[in-house]
Amino acid sequence: MAFSRAFLDELEARNPIEDVVGHYVSLKPRGSNLFGLCPFHGEKTASFSVAPDKGIYYCFGCHKGGNVFNFMMEIEGLTYPDAVRALAKRVGMEVPEDEQYQSRYRHQERLWALSKEAARFFRAQLFSPAGAQGLAYAQQRGMPKATLTTFGVGFAPNAWSALTDAMRKKGYTDQELIDSGLVSEKGGRIFDRFRNRLMFPIIDVRGNVIGFGGRVMDDSTPKYLNSPETEIFNKRKNLFGLNLAKKSKLGYLILVEGYMDAVSLHQYGFDCAVASLGTSLTEEHAALLSRYTEQVILIYDGDTAGQRATKRAIPMLEKVGLQVKVLQMKGAKDPDEFLKKFGADRFKLLLEGASNRVEYQLNAIARKYDIREDDQRVKFIQECALLISALPSSVQQEVYGNRVAEVGGISFEAMKMEIAKANKNRIRREKKLQEKKDLAPVQAVQPKSRTIRYDDVKSAMAEEGVIGQGLREPALFDLCGDLRASDFSSSLLGRVYEQLRACQSRGLRVELSSLEGFELDEMSHIAGILQRQSGPVNEQAMKDYIATIRAEAQKRGVHTEDDLLALRNKLKESKGYKV
Ligand code: CTP
Ligand code: MN
Repeated sequence: MAFSRAFLDELEARNPIEDVVGHYVSLKPRGSNLFGLCPFHGEKTASFSVAPDKGIYYCFGCHKGGNVFNFMMEIEGLTYPDAVRALAKRVGMEVPEDEQYQSRYRHQERLWALSKEAARFFRAQLFSPAGAQGLAYAQQRGMPKATLTTFGVGFAPNAWSALTDAMRKKGYTDQELIDSGLVSEKGGRIFDRFRNRLMFPIIDVRGNVIGFGGRVMDDSTPKYLNSPETEIFNKRKNLFGLNLAKKSKLGYLILVEGYMDAVSLHQYGFDCAVASLGTSLTEEHAALLSRYTEQVILIYDGDTAGQRATKRAIPMLEKVGLQVKVLQMKGAKDPDEFLKKFGADRFKLLLEGASNRVEYQLNAIARKYDIREDDQRVKFIQECALLISALPSSVQQEVYGNRVAEVGGISFEAMKMEIAKANKNRIRREKKLQEKKDLAPVQAVQPKSRTIRYDDVKSAMAEEGVIGQGLREPALFDLCGDLRASDFSSSLLGRVYEQLRACQSRGLRVELSSLEGFELDEMSHIAGILQRQSGPVNEQAMKDYIATIRAEAQKRGVHTEDDLLALRNKLKESKGYKV
């Protein structure tokens, strides 16, 4: 165990969840809970709850939840030990760092230090004879020295162990080099992962070098080689350039696809540009962006892949409360090319003309149809009407409705009727969808996190019940007898059960904070289970849950082929069929 239970208990007691959360969210009492606007997704009505008695938070909208440690991890983007440290600092408690943790933390710090050293090494190479080709390439791509400095651009020489040798000399071990992703391993030997490439360090918002992207200088592939995922590098959670862009005074962030696009934008004065790291936008990226701005301008390439990426990114960004604008590249394939061809002023004009997402979507519809043809024009108008009918304000509906009417060559009256019709259809469809959902309880109870799934929903509901009841009244666990974690259909719930029972039998506190080794989305799910439990604890209910779990486990237990065959035969017999 990392920190002692006693320490964590005291830390939690001194950091009441309502105080800690209250620092970020304005909370108002409702029933036995406190409610406020969820800091993890954009919303207008408060569905974010804090239960001081249970020591948890849970959002009924986005289903994030957990204990006070999870909250700090989620809202500040911290690891568990760092969340502990932050809370300790908050109340002036000393953290008893144990050996294992210290060493893991030290390991991480070593990797950060190593990555920084590597960046320095690459940078020195760029300006040495070994880097002549790299520097020439950088110049050919229009990067002056100032830009190279701002981004810490460097060069990985064309050799198998230039970096390895240099880092070994600095005292880094081969294991550390492997863990940093800077070297590759083959047949027990290690060699530089990046060779003969222009190197872009990837720096997190706290200023740590966490990885690299390296570009070839010709047409060979892969064009970019990136650091693999490591203990300190997760490309789903980081954005290239955000360390600089977060300081921008421009008041918005520009999201682009390429390293070079971000670099050029900064170079031409748009110091608010960030790039995703060769992956499509993730929810983590969206949440990260929302911590630094309220408005994002999306500039993806004009090709179909870029259009698809844009379509996908819009709702993700809006979900975290960001205002989204979309810029269509014209006359160049990406911002880098545009800036070099036409300059900053022309780009500024483009930015000012960046359409909001409604305009963008209307344009996308327009591109699908040839409105000189009557039948296609009708389809164009209908599809636009559907989009407009879903807009929240009547002013917006009128403005865009007018625009479409004009383009489509019909009166605004006719357009209004079309929008009203589309609205009716949409509502009917949504209602149907909702009914379908209501009729499909199996879907409704599936965990919201995509990484957790219940295979046996009946058993999983009972398992949730056992955990929920036990968390509220640990003594009820005594009813479980020899019920084992392996009887649980959900391995996640089985793990929770196992740990809680272990706490109970050892006379420790049985609480959410007693759980160890769970991911944030798993904790959210568990907090959700606890928060959904209400009413008095109930011995009979506990017994029923246990019986269900046992029965379902037995059912699953017979699922070998022979048993299935035997079962089928028995069934047939009982129905009077001949085998
Ligand atoms: N990318 C990658 N691996 C590749 C190709 C691309 O990781 N083999 C990522 C990089 O982050 C790159 C981004 O996808 O910056 C966009 O790719 P592309 O548009 O090809 O890159 P540009 O930044 O335009 O590169 P350049 O201008 O240097 O050709
Ligand atoms: Mn490019």
